[in-house]
Amino acid sequence: MAEARILASADVDERALIGEGTTVWHLAQVREDAAVGRDCIIGRGAYVGPGVRLGDRVKLQNHALVYEPAVLEDGVFIGPAVVLTNDMYPRSADVDGGLKRPGDWDALGVTVREGASVGARAVVVAGLTIGRYALVGAGAVVTRDVLDHALVVGSPAKRIGWVGRAGEPLKDEGEGHWLCPRTGEKYVEIDGRLSRARDA
Ligand SMILES: CC(C)(COP(=O)(O)OP(=O)(O)OC[C@H]1O[C@@H](n2cnc3c(N)ncnc32)[C@H](O)[C@@H]1OP(=O)(O)O)[C@@H](O)C(=O)NCCC(=O)NCCS
Repeated sequence: MAEARILASADVDERALIGEGTTVWHLAQVREDAAVGRDCIIGRGAYVGPGVRLGDRVKLQNHALVYEPAVLEDGVFIGPAVVLTNDMYPRSADVDGGLKRPGDWDALGVTVREGASVGARAVVVAGLTIGRYALVGAGAVVTRDVLDHALVVGSPAKRIGWVGRAGEPLKDEGEGHWLCPRTGEKYVEIDGRLSRARDA
């Protein structure tokens, strides 16, 4: 497998791990102790915070900001200018007036599960989980956990449908059955949650 490709203007800390086949584009920053998997793309100007974990085949588009201690599983797509936040009640200084340092507050990372995508310029509030193969629409503000396969849009983000593994909205076949028009995969909805049908 190809070695990692790190462009000269990228700023990758020597304590970060970058997997084989991964490209880190111009002006991206990968902080200390971050672990980036194989065959990832870290776009121009993207930021990966200290200790952040990225699986394999993850794409961070240009200027995506991934604050620690986020965890992105395999196959995750993070659109341009997305922000995965880590501080629910941010303050620059404490009540004594002193500058707050990393040890002065508890960072809460976002988790993005396998195969999920976050659309351009969306913001995800600290500590939330985006479920497997979910799709967050462009510009959304995610304020609650997102279910597996959910398609959510808006501010605050609400579910408007389901998407399959291919990312396309599923077609309602009635009585809790859903179909992917692209792949023909079948899904079932039980108690408000979607999963792949056993015979799909
Ligand atoms: C969310 C998304 C997948 C919906 O696509 P779609 O299934 O074709 O949906 P439609 O265009 O039929 O829209 C369905 C409804 O949702 C609304 N909607 C669609 N995208 C929306 C968004 N990002 N935010 C808010 N509302 C949105 C539409 O206005 C429409 O509302 P209506 O029924 O009241 O008219 C798509 O709009 C999107 O945001 N994709 C992500 C694009 C992106 O960021 N890519 C990153 C790489 S550049």
